[in-house]
Amino acid sequence: MADNDSRAGARYADPDILAWTDARHAGLDPALARAFEAPGNEDMPAIQVGRSEGRLLHLLMRLVGARKVIEVGTLAGFSAVHLARGLAPDGHLWTLEFEPKHARVARANLAAAGLSDRVTVVEGDAVATLPTLEPLGPFDAVFIDADKGRYDAYGAWAAANLRRGGLLLADNAYFFGKLLDPARAEAAAVRRLHEQVGAHFDSVCIPTPDGLLLGIRR
Ligand SMILES: C[S@@+](CC[C@H](N)C(=O)[O-])C[C@H]1O[C@@H](n2cnc3c(N)ncnc32)[C@H](O)[C@@H]1O
Repeated sequence: MADNDSRAGARYADPDILAWTDARHAGLDPALARAFEAPGNEDMPAIQVGRSEGRLLHLLMRLVGARKVIEVGTLAGFSAVHLARGLAPDGHLWTLEFEPKHARVARANLAAAGLSDRVTVVEGDAVATLPTLEPLGPFDAVFIDADKGRYDAYGAWAAANLRRGGLLLADNAYFFGKLLDPARAEAAAVRRLHEQVGAHFDSVCIPTPDGLLLGIRR
């Protein structure tokens, strides 16, 4: 039941509340802090997932007992550390990254987190590298967080390579607030992903700051 202060359109998640709840649920140990701060320290774009989204990815991997996971878009490895820490004991994460510098920084961060043997950073354009990973599937989870103009292609790949009950996750599902912009080709690709996932997965778009799409493959 809504309390007396609730009203349509109200915003409750102010920065102080987010900082307070992050401190209790999404703390950063030294390895996570290193990966989270690396983009700022290494002159890379600071476009990693937020602390709560990272923690959510980790918990979701544990919930599905993930053994084989794909991430499209590594950056400095912040979300990869979360995903890898949520894997089953014999699990493995393949994380795909286009920029050699990002791949190098991520490998160093994953090594510092003690995860080098559980994570492979696959360097190259995901459109080319994803097909090479197909023989390792089916996968338990696919997290999409790279070039938005290919979100529909990544979604189609995930639908074909996830096990039944496997998880599809995609960050920036609101496309930076421009999801419904008819003039943006990338927005159209993200909308196509929503259409595919809505039609073929049990799904929800979680209202994180920029939307996190979650689907369970039927
Ligand atoms: C939003 S960042 C990933 C953030 C990371 N998932 C995290 O939360 O820590 C997107 C990354 O995808 C990479 N990328 C963009 N297009 C790509 C492609 N076609 N193939 C592989 N990586 C790509 C970018 O270089 C960038 O490092």
